[in-house]
Amino acid sequence: MSKYDVIIIGAGAAGLFCGIHAAKRGRKVLILEGAKGPGKKILVSGGGRCNFTNLDITPNFYVSQNPHFCKSALSQYTNWDFISFISELNLTYNEKTLGQLFCDQKSRGILEGLLKSIPSNCELKVSSRVNEVSYEDYYKVSLTNGDSFQADSLVVATGGLSFPGLGATDIGYRIAKQFGHKMVETTPALVPFTLENVLKNLAGVAIESEVCVGNKKFLENILWTHKGLSGPSILKASLYWESKSKVKINFLPKSDIYQILKDKNKKTLLNALKEELPIRFVEEWLKLFKLPLNRKCAELSGDQKELLVKVFHHWEFIPSGTEGYRKAEVTRGGVDTNQVSSKTMESRLQKNLFFIGEVLDVTGLLGGYNFQWAWSSGYVAAKYV
Ligand code: FDA
Repeated sequence: MSKYDVIIIGAGAAGLFCGIHAAKRGRKVLILEGAKGPGKKILVSGGGRCNFTNLDITPNFYVSQNPHFCKSALSQYTNWDFISFISELNLTYNEKTLGQLFCDQKSRGILEGLLKSIPSNCELKVSSRVNEVSYEDYYKVSLTNGDSFQADSLVVATGGLSFPGLGATDIGYRIAKQFGHKMVETTPALVPFTLENVLKNLAGVAIESEVCVGNKKFLENILWTHKGLSGPSILKASLYWESKSKVKINFLPKSDIYQILKDKNKKTLLNALKEELPIRFVEEWLKLFKLPLNRKCAELSGDQKELLVKVFHHWEFIPSGTEGYRKAEVTRGGVDTNQVSSKTMESRLQKNLFFIGEVLDVTGLLGGYNFQWAWSSGYVAAKYV
């Protein structure tokens, strides 16, 4: 049985980054990846362009039962450190909205840069799905194909449950439980909402809207889909959404409907609103709430104006659910951080066992925050394995 200093389970963003830096410290490392190739999520991320970090990384952009947990790793390895890392690989980037950084050489550029950075004392084995782990003075890791390997330190970098087609399994959670770790309930997040009464005619319509969940507000596009609602505002809101709770949408966040009616009082309601919003949406929405499309704005009753305010500025609904792990960019919840050191990522219950990346109960907002967590937590663990 081959013996290593460190075995890392999972060659995603966190596992690869940890492997690179642990090997740079001279450790003999083995990364085991269940899928046929490494970094599958990196490849699909950001629509193939990998939103690898954000200019504005602070703990406020992360959800966890312990909101302080992410602070140490994010400050030990910052967004600027990762920007330097990719710049040294001659990769370039551009800023989209809200500080999101995308790689000009696309996701493949990031993945190839990571693979190129792996030192020779770090071995990567793909199509090597881990079946179980045991511990007796050292870790023994067994694969589903019967092979097994030994190491002094074990790093669990197996990600969450989303996008099962890309290799996700629950092995990380099972290992955590096996060594006595508590779990924070997992749910799909950064995921489209489903609606009971879907407005199929609206599928494909995008509207810049303010979406509000609890005290969180997001002002970006929403997108009507065949199953409900998606788009960045909705995906972000889903991170904070508790099942059966209300979501509010302001479809006219930058204008006031009373002012529109006043300024366009000679126009019909439909003609006035279609200058502000996509016509398909205006037609469907006015019909849905039985508002008179062809009445002049000046002739609307007080009740009708109040209804317009309600349905365009303060529309409230309860999603019937989400599109689940199949469509979720991330998994909220995971290994409880209270039993893991925030400075080293080492288990407080089991020596030389580390958890990094999405498998932990640390979930970032849409915008490069999840990759930054993977880089930061992977880097930190690499210093101590
Ligand atoms: P990750 O899931 O990347 O890696 C875990 C690895 O473990 C996988 O390769 C898996 O195959 C392997 N594994 C699982 N079980 C195993 C087993 N039993 N044996 C061996 N290997 C096993 N984030 C962001 O910041 N910017 C973005 O642009 C995007 N875009 C995006 C798009 C889409 C479609 C998705 C699904 C997700 C994103 N994300 C994102 C989220 C981001 O991809 C995610 O948070 C990180 O990849 C998490 O990195 P990890 O390394 O923790 O897990």
